[in-house]
Amino acid sequence: MSDPKKLFIKTYGCQMNVYDSERMAEALGGKGYVETQSPEDADMILLNTCHIREKAAEKVYSELGRFKGLKAENPDLKIGVAGCVAQAEGEEIMRRQPMVDLVVGPQSYHRLPEMEAKTREGEKALDTDFPEEDKFEKLKSRPKAKRGPTAFLTVQEGCDKFCAFCVVPYTRGAEVSRPVDRVLTEARDLVERGVREITLLGQNVNAYHGAGKGGDWSLAKLIWALNDIDGLERIRFTTSHPNDMDDDLIAAHGECSKLMPYLHLPVQSGSDRILKRMNRSHTAESYLRVIERIREARPDILISGDFIVGFPEETEQDFQDTLSLVEQVRYGQCYSFKYSTRPGTPAAERPQVDAAEADDRLQRLQALLNKQQKEIQQSMVGKEVGVLFEKKGKLPGQLVGKSDHLHAVYAEAPEHLIGEVAKVRIVESATHSLGGVLL
Ligand code: SAH
Ligand code: SF4
Ligand code: F3S
Repeated sequence: MSDPKKLFIKTYGCQMNVYDSERMAEALGGKGYVETQSPEDADMILLNTCHIREKAAEKVYSELGRFKGLKAENPDLKIGVAGCVAQAEGEEIMRRQPMVDLVVGPQSYHRLPEMEAKTREGEKALDTDFPEEDKFEKLKSRPKAKRGPTAFLTVQEGCDKFCAFCVVPYTRGAEVSRPVDRVLTEARDLVERGVREITLLGQNVNAYHGAGKGGDWSLAKLIWALNDIDGLERIRFTTSHPNDMDDDLIAAHGECSKLMPYLHLPVQSGSDRILKRMNRSHTAESYLRVIERIREARPDILISGDFIVGFPEETEQDFQDTLSLVEQVRYGQCYSFKYSTRPGTPAAERPQVDAAEADDRLQRLQALLNKQQKEIQQSMVGKEVGVLFEKKGKLPGQLVGKSDHLHAVYAEAPEHLIGEVAKVRIVESATHSLGGVLL
């Protein structure tokens, strides 16, 4: 038997890409590929890319440039580009980097095995269709091998919201939900393989409306069904849109024992003028009201968010409104970005904010968000929390895992606790993690 071929796969962007990379590696596994951590050993290099901001998209080309030498040394090496840059730029990628053999979009990667075969015959392979057939149905069932205690599970893809700055509706297509029974089967399989925590994924995961018994199911109903799976200990979901936080989902945060007290709920701006221009279809007030109701259901919930500063026509007053919203919410975790002009999106045509001004606003916003994050982390000291240990820590005898509130926690603990949820008392707060003692 010949040696297995080796696949080096590098993932950029969001968690959905992490999930897709796993599925792509599995699809190529059927063609005799095993994964390698070093591009030098690879028979195929696959970059799973992100198009959300200009920097992310341009990184792909510099990364491809780095592989030129490898391709010169090994003409059998195949180089592929997958993900959202593949979808957005398609053939253009092969024009800019002729050494690229394969370009595959996020909705057509179930066709990777045939595309790989085509490249082995010396042809180029390009597929950026939004095919009629369901990619998940066409993909082989997932392998049964043991895996780590946490997993992502994509339940919804695409977006119909068309925020004025965002490429996702174009790169991922229209909103689609996977049927309930497929999701539950995949979840049970993951649990059998050792998974204890599942994070449900979707670009707008709380718009989930998968077909199930009795009609379409909401995300809340799906979470309640997952709650009944023995061996599954924690459920999370991301990313949500404020307009799709329905009553049942809010209530689940108070009632569903396995649903973790953490919610990523991006708002982007605190100014109604800007929210309107962003086509967000909610106001600062309606967002704050949703947060208030979630806190009523689950008082200790940790809220996380996303912000864009320097959106076209944003004034200092608009930015002050953002700071004021942040003060009211008190975020435990946050991601903030300088607006990046994306070709083809409506906002790209509007008067842009001066770059230095946008940089300055980003710094001021991040200072406030960091302060809040630190305070909330500090407030965990002295508390007892559940920690799902994932792996060994940096120091001997130490394990690291995530708390219910998704803080990284280090504690001295025996190795057999990897994959289990243990009670830990938090004793210190460092920059990006907490230290605790096992109870
Ligand atoms: N579906 C999610 C997240 C989409 S992308 C949602 O609706 O919130 C993740 C984050 O990237 C967004 O929340 C936004 O803050 C940021 N982002 C998207 N487009 C951007 C752009 N053109 N410039 C800067 N940040 C952007
Ligand atoms: Fe992009 Fe808006 Fe859709 Fe989120 S809701 S993916 S920010 S268009
Ligand atoms: Fe990036 Fe595509 Fe995700 S653009 S953020 S990889 S959906």
